[in-house]
Amino acid sequence: ASRVPLVAGNWKMNFNHLEATYFVQKLVWLLRDAHFDYRRCEIALMPSFTSIRSVQVLVEADDLKIRYGAQSVSVTTQGAFTGDVSADMLAALGCTYVIVGHSERRKYHPEDDANIVDQVRAVLAAGMRPILCVGESYEERRQGIELDFAVGQVHDVTRDLSRDQAAKLIIAYEPVWAIGTGMVATPDSAQDAARAIREDLATTFDETVADAVRILYGGSVTSKNAVELIGEPDVDGFLIGGAALDADELATIARLT
Ligand code: G3H
Repeated sequence: ASRVPLVAGNWKMNFNHLEATYFVQKLVWLLRDAHFDYRRCEIALMPSFTSIRSVQVLVEADDLKIRYGAQSVSVTTQGAFTGDVSADMLAALGCTYVIVGHSERRKYHPEDDANIVDQVRAVLAAGMRPILCVGESYEERRQGIELDFAVGQVHDVTRDLSRDQAAKLIIAYEPVWAIGTGMVATPDSAQDAARAIREDLATTFDETVADAVRILYGGSVTSKNAVELIGEPDVDGFLIGGAALDADELATIARLT
């Protein structure tokens, strides 16, 4: 496929703005040292809201090729919503991506399907791209309904989108049991889920949309398992948590992707 792979680091609630600055400098230095080709594989970082501006300043000052984004967004555009951050505010910081519907957000915050669709719309309306997270828990896998579950989560969002909107999505298949546990999905099961999601996109929209959407795998990705996973035809990159907190590890994964 002609899809350029994406390696996205989700820092979750780690790194203040000084630590973020240090990390980006180190990462860029490592990639430069390795003659990394940013046209072959895209790299994105998702800092906390408080660190995005620091990343932006570095990227703009040195014309860096890494992209960045946020981990969540408000569904409203502005007004009396204490503690929320709007999509326009993120776009003004030069964000390319916003993670939407991460399982930790679904669990610790009232982010249901309706809210997730609204976040996707807000991100798209502000000219950014949503990284929509889906994936089954251990219980659904035990019951053998993991593919239906993940496809269903995608479908709950895409059925409310236009074809043009859907083509701008990035989907991250992250089985909840694999997140932060060291239990990575097998390449086969990552491929099965990515394939099922892509087939559903083809049914809901068409082959062009299905071919355009990048589908990432997330859940205990490291430099040790990245090569096998990226070898799968429908796996277009990674959404990385723990391993994205180590610049050497993230640079290595990007080189291998
Ligand atoms: O967004 C990233 C995922 O939750 C994966 O986290 O790489 O620490 O398992 P992890």
